[in-house]
Amino acid sequence: MTATTETAPSGSRGSQPPVPPGAITLTVQIRRFNPEFEDEPRWQSFEVPALPTDRVLNVLHYIKWYLDGSVTFRRSCAHGVCGSDAMRINGVNRLACKVLVKDLMAGNGKPTTITMEPIKGLPVHKDLLVDMEPFFEAFRAVKPYLMTTGHEPTRERIQSAADRARFDDTTKCILCACCTTSCPVYWTEGSYFGPAAIVNAHRFIFDSRDEGAEERLDILNDVDGVWRCRTTFNCTDACPRGIQVTKAIQEVKRALLFKRV
Ligand code: SF4
Ligand code: SF4
Ligand code: FES
Repeated sequence: MTATTETAPSGSRGSQPPVPPGAITLTVQIRRFNPEFEDEPRWQSFEVPALPTDRVLNVLHYIKWYLDGSVTFRRSCAHGVCGSDAMRINGVNRLACKVLVKDLMAGNGKPTTITMEPIKGLPVHKDLLVDMEPFFEAFRAVKPYLMTTGHEPTRERIQSAADRARFDDTTKCILCACCTTSCPVYWTEGSYFGPAAIVNAHRFIFDSRDEGAEERLDILNDVDGVWRCRTTFNCTDACPRGIQVTKAIQEVKRALLFKRV
């Protein structure tokens, strides 16, 4: 699936924005920044009609389609699968397509304000759209693919159910970067591989069919590797797939200490 970058020329698409029956009015504050023309980010506020069952991604679409076509963000699947719409919503890293408006409502009929900012620690291209390249560079560096030696087998590589279960949790990663960009070590020391890269190394280190564990462990034993992690659990809390990120990091540390996978 191809992620779409929601960037378009300024201007609204319709003269009369639709208001669904039963809608409440949200105040949505978006941290806007266009490094080409601005020195500093600024907040822009929008009044948006929305249903409690709308997703935050719908709210962003409303703004883009009816209020200001220049608001820029990335999204693709809209169903929590592709990992392209990670952003800070009310100060917490989330996928905009997985958060419902009702979960952010103030309650007791009070007015609701939703803030949206880009994820932290990556360069901002524009508004909520960040440059993911440093994140993917760390991902590629841990060699996240099956490594084997010898001739190709004539049939599939056999694995027991127990061996498959060993790394099941870390197969669920969708590379959204919610974990890495919630990590205080990554914010301050951008050279740290970050939790997502370690999760994806874990997925192969503990795969009984793989023969590259030692090489990956050497990579993660580096000064920018697993030992930078201070076990603060931000990454685990941020993961929209419920992956036990910090546990995976601990397992890689243990494998390094005891040279056992
Ligand atoms: S547990 Fe480690 S990797 Fe995760 S947020 Fe904390 S310091 Fe970062
Ligand atoms: S481990 Fe979770 S939070 Fe981190 S990149 Fe993968 S899916 Fe996203
Ligand atoms: S748009 Fe694909 S995960 Fe949200």
